[in-house]
Amino acid sequence: MNIDQISAQNAQIQRFQRARRDPELAVLEGFHALKHAFRFQADVLEVAATDPARLERFAQSLAPDLSGRFAAIAGVVEPSVFVQLAPKAARTAVIALAKRRTGDVGELLADPRPAPAVMLENPRDLGNLGACVRVCAAADAAGVLTTGSHDPWNPDALRGAAGLHYAIPVAHVERVPSSDRPVIAIDTGGEPFQPSALEPRALLVFGSERDGLSEQLLARADARLSIPMHPGVSSLNLATSVAAILFAWRLGRDA
Ligand SMILES: C[S@@+](CC[C@H](N)C(=O)[O-])C[C@H]1O[C@@H](n2cnc3c(N)ncnc32)[C@H](O)[C@@H]1O
Repeated sequence: MNIDQISAQNAQIQRFQRARRDPELAVLEGFHALKHAFRFQADVLEVAATDPARLERFAQSLAPDLSGRFAAIAGVVEPSVFVQLAPKAARTAVIALAKRRTGDVGELLADPRPAPAVMLENPRDLGNLGACVRVCAAADAAGVLTTGSHDPWNPDALRGAAGLHYAIPVAHVERVPSSDRPVIAIDTGGEPFQPSALEPRALLVFGSERDGLSEQLLARADARLSIPMHPGVSSLNLATSVAAILFAWRLGRDA
């Protein structure tokens, strides 16, 4: 390897490492995250893979609509370089940089469709946060807002969401934003949830994994609903409770 190739390699490693802290960029780890980024028209800037031909074989079986897209953009890197680009290397050995698409919070809340928006109060587990984004995208919710110290576009959250941040708006807010949506606290202490009674444009607020919803948020809510559980069970996992509410609502609507 000559000196130009070595400095290009070092520059690429630095670019991928810096991107993890860049609020404008998304780091997409693994085939599925990149697949969804392509499918939902993300602005993908750079892709590095140890074996782009293998990605194309995945595409042919898992995402034939995207055949050719992976090989067209992916640069080949040695496995020893790849582990420096991707500290938590995905089994599919591909990592990409794309521009974030956070969307506008006001527009998200003003979405006129009969679709709930979801807000997560101070989620602590980035994989769980990503799983919430994934289920909200699948249910076609209006979007996902988060409060607290975690960046909802953190690479670990993107990985948990399989890149579905590009399918719906996902943004961080400081507090419950004002809008015409009723604020519904989803909390184990609430009234039993009845899907057919849910206001379809509600802002559904879920609490953090250990502590649940804060007193402040419970006081701010217009109603408080619970998911009935077998006696003795304390609570559902955060992403599971988002899925239970959204899909109970959605299946009831479709029926
Ligand atoms: C793991 S739970 C938090 C548990 C916490 N110890 C508590 O008592 O609220 C995380 C969030 O999931 C939601 N959740 C979990 N199970 C629920 C249930 N059965 N009914 C309503 N919300 C639930 C709530 O929004 C809760 O704040």
